[in-house]
Amino acid sequence: MAAEKARVVCVTGAGGFVGSWLVKHLLSKNYTVHGTVRNPMDEKYGHLKKLEKASEKLKLFKADLLDYESIRAAIVGCDGVFHTASPVPPSSVPDPEVELIKPAVDGTLNVLKACCEVNVKKVVYVSSVAAVSIIPNRPQDRPLDETFWSDQEFCRSNNDWYCLSKTKAESEAWEFSKKNGIDFLSVCPTLIVGPMLQKTVNASSLVLIKLLKEGYEELENRSRMIVDVRDLAEALILVYEKPEANGRYICVSHQIRAKDLVEILKKHYPDYKYPKKFIESKDKSSVTAQKLQDLGWSYRPLEETLVDSVENYAQNGLLG
Ligand SMILES: NC(=O)c1ccc[n+]([C@@H]2O[C@H](COP(=O)([O-])OP(=O)(O)OC[C@H]3O[C@@H](n4cnc5c(N)ncnc54)[C@H](OP(=O)(O)O)[C@@H]3O)[C@@H](O)[C@H]2O)c1
Repeated sequence: MAAEKARVVCVTGAGGFVGSWLVKHLLSKNYTVHGTVRNPMDEKYGHLKKLEKASEKLKLFKADLLDYESIRAAIVGCDGVFHTASPVPPSSVPDPEVELIKPAVDGTLNVLKACCEVNVKKVVYVSSVAAVSIIPNRPQDRPLDETFWSDQEFCRSNNDWYCLSKTKAESEAWEFSKKNGIDFLSVCPTLIVGPMLQKTVNASSLVLIKLLKEGYEELENRSRMIVDVRDLAEALILVYEKPEANGRYICVSHQIRAKDLVEILKKHYPDYKYPKKFIESKDKSSVTAQKLQDLGWSYRPLEETLVDSVENYAQNGLLG
């Protein structure tokens, strides 16, 4: 990859929680970014235009994952693509095949087809641990690594449509990339939290916001696997930049029981409406990011992530 050309990259879903931070980090590293959004005129993307260096180095493209030509137009002239766009609904949707699976799977294939057509060689795909860990009889005695794949039939039988969408999209993407000689890498993050750059609340931030203000009567004391959105952005750029990167990378920083997580939050912010009671969970499964750490990835302490998140939610008036 010629050094100069590699500095022009496309980020799909640039206005989302992950996409926005990725664009910010790429701009700060002097990349030129083609960001796709569904409607560049919408005020909800105002934060992107205010990012440092955005006026010189960020160009927004109107694109929908299911409109091939719009995706292709954003990718022309790029040497690499970061594909983050995919529906992440906060709750169940009426027609999961149409609303979730189709945009995730066909959208990802559209991105890859466009990469083939315009000769983009390197693609970093934001998959999910949802494509790794949804299996019956999950091992409890050793952490799941990148060799594990979620069981699509098991997802379907549990109406776990989001997990199915991510598993099917990643697996079809691997198949397509291998057949067509694309240097494809996938990063599988766990629950992503951290401060939001965008003004509209995304689904994973809502998980933490609800822990602070919902006042649940009881909550399962299961393991929460957390990664900071800023550390994820660095992970995505790391796998893009390192020539030796290959295959899948699980991205997790902290694995902590819900009750212990609430204890940390309470220490800093005693007055929110926390869950009243915790029910013990039998699931002791975990995942490992050893492969990503071996590539050189590191992450910030959990307390920093939590404090920065809560301060951000409070500033946005989300905890009142
Ligand atoms: N957040 C997590 O905990 C988590 C964990 C693991 C993996 N992930 C993955 O991370 C990626 C980003 O998620 P996020 O948390 O940043 O969620 P998000 O804020 O909801 O962002 C999703 C993005 O996808 C775009 N999008 C959805 N459907 C689209 C379509 N048909 N055409 C074009 N764009 C479309 C959205 O565009 P609009 O702005 O136009 O709505 C938005 O920019 C997703 O692939 C998700 O599966 C997230």
